[in-house]
Amino acid sequence: MNHPSQRRLLITAGPTHEPIDAVRFLGNRSSGRMGVALADAAVELGWHVTLLLGPVAARPGRPGVVVRHFKTCEDLRGLLREEVSHADALVMAAAVADYRPKPNPAMSGGKFRRTNTPLMLELEPTPDLLAEVSAARKPGQLFVGFALEPRADLLESAKAKLVRKKVDMVIANPLETMDSSTVQAMILSADGTRTDTPGVMSKTDFATWVMGVIAHATCGAQTLRAAS
Ligand code: CTP
Repeated sequence: MNHPSQRRLLITAGPTHEPIDAVRFLGNRSSGRMGVALADAAVELGWHVTLLLGPVAARPGRPGVVVRHFKTCEDLRGLLREEVSHADALVMAAAVADYRPKPNPAMSGGKFRRTNTPLMLELEPTPDLLAEVSAARKPGQLFVGFALEPRADLLESAKAKLVRKKVDMVIANPLETMDSSTVQAMILSADGTRTDTPGVMSKTDFATWVMGVIAHATCGAQTLRAAS
């Protein structure tokens, strides 16, 4: 782990766009704003921040965030492979597609033309990028995932993701807050602890609160290693 003043944070944000043909894609409604707010909050707190950002209009407001852009899950996979070993912490806020159009020779000739017959689009699963990188993580790295779930399933689904993706923390966010300007969420940790937001927060305050929890956890990891 680097000295606290030079700690390096890798954040992913935004949707993926998975091409159907040369002009169409499968995407989702992620705006990337949460990841961008986290990047701004982290720079403010003294982190060295690299933001892997999907095809969205949102941009960090603070100078100092290194931004690299991706479109597809495969692009993001390549950037993660390049960047993750330099990071002390990874926050995976990107809304990565779970399925993408299977390569189809009929779609490879540029723009697919309209016909009057029904069209079947075959999808294939994408790799789980967070599970992939956490399986190869270096000692001392802190990995954080997101779970956007209906409020009724929030706790159970987030717990399941914590285990399935082998991460240190999952930020569990009710689906209902997706189009809201405020957040009321919780962070579940692999050690069994649960930290709730102190009430309803603006997304900017929430980002600062999350970074405070992450900074605390990474300092703890550093102290433990120094003592051993
Ligand atoms: N994630 C990922 N790669 C994927 C899908 C998701 O790395 N192909 C990451 C997201 O960035 C997020 C976490 O996994 O940090 C949870 O994403 P989510 O979409 O909530 O979970 P899924 O694994 O896709 O499971 P489900 O769709 O069943 O909820």
